[in-house]
Amino acid sequence: MNKQILGNTDLNVSCLCLGTMTMGWTSGKEDSFAVMDYALEHGINFFDTADIYSMWAEGNDGGVAETWIGEWLNLRQTRDKVIIATKARGRMWDGPDGEGLSRAHLMQAVEDSLRRLQVETIDLYQSHWPDESTSLEETFRAFEDMVQQGKVRYLGCSNHTPAQLKETLNICAAHNLPRYQSLQPHYNLVHRHEYETGLMGIAQRQNLGVIPYSPLAGGFLTGKYRRDNTPSGSRGYGNDRMSPYKNNKGYTIIETLTQVGQTHNATPAQTAIAWLLSNPTVTAAIIGANSVSQLAETVKAIDVVLSPEEKQQLDSLPSPS
Ligand SMILES: NC(=O)c1ccc[n+]([C@@H]2O[C@H](COP(=O)([O-])OP(=O)(O)OC[C@H]3O[C@@H](n4cnc5c(N)ncnc54)[C@H](OP(=O)(O)O)[C@@H]3O)[C@@H](O)[C@H]2O)c1
Repeated sequence: MNKQILGNTDLNVSCLCLGTMTMGWTSGKEDSFAVMDYALEHGINFFDTADIYSMWAEGNDGGVAETWIGEWLNLRQTRDKVIIATKARGRMWDGPDGEGLSRAHLMQAVEDSLRRLQVETIDLYQSHWPDESTSLEETFRAFEDMVQQGKVRYLGCSNHTPAQLKETLNICAAHNLPRYQSLQPHYNLVHRHEYETGLMGIAQRQNLGVIPYSPLAGGFLTGKYRRDNTPSGSRGYGNDRMSPYKNNKGYTIIETLTQVGQTHNATPAQTAIAWLLSNPTVTAAIIGANSVSQLAETVKAIDVVLSPEEKQQLDSLPSPS
């Protein structure tokens, strides 16, 4: 598995990062531990989580994914083998400081994440999404303290617009504050506009590490969502999560992935991840898996190398969003 330095950090991360949003949502503890074992055994040294995972699942108050990662790190004695990225911003407790990027929220949130993860330092601490009600200076003074106290090594962000990212980087430079070193955008073959128009250029100019989430569009790019049938038990079953992609543009992309994949003996999922990794601005793709068998398929994406013509063919397809 190829590794690459994340932006201006010294974190040498695998080109696949294990996402953990499914833990406690669509994946139980036993499967989650097996997935982490398999990931590490197959060269994935980078795990992404968030304090809120997966609060939206019934009976889950958040913190479950971090807790399971912490238990796994401790049980397997693997802390020194894995680079841990987590996020803060979402609501974790009641009251005015229960969410956001204020100093009051962040200082408590980082302690809670450290405790659940059972680590002394978080390698990459990310703003899950912006907080317009808190000044950037307040947020970054809190981040600066965390870095100085050794609770956090590097900072990153997710779900920022180009304007928000630019403003943040400018404020950090002007006040000599530690800045975001990575960006976690929503980016895949059926959701390109958000990253490719604006964020990608900033990431390149500022040498930010880029770790896109949902490289399979939550499962759509596996090709298992048919026009007239959604597989039961999948994330998109019984809801409208996949409706933005279930159209001619989305299915043309699946057909092309299938056709391009055939020449490599690769599945649409593997080909979709290979396409993402062929973008030189991308450091690592954050993949999700409910089971070892899903991960065993997607991890093989690293063996698929697209020719310039195949990349061009996929690049030229119009994206639904
Ligand atoms: N920053 C953010 O706001 C944000 C948002 C979303 C995600 N993330 C991060 O990114 C990670 C990955 O996101 P994601 O889960 O949406 O990624 P994804 O890789 O696009 O989708 C993963 C889902 O696709 C399906 N799948 C995966 N491999 C498969 C296979 N071989 N065969 C059939 N189905 C397969 C599974 O869902 P089913 O089995 O249910 O179909 C799996 O849970 C998250 O865990 C999280 O760490 C961050």
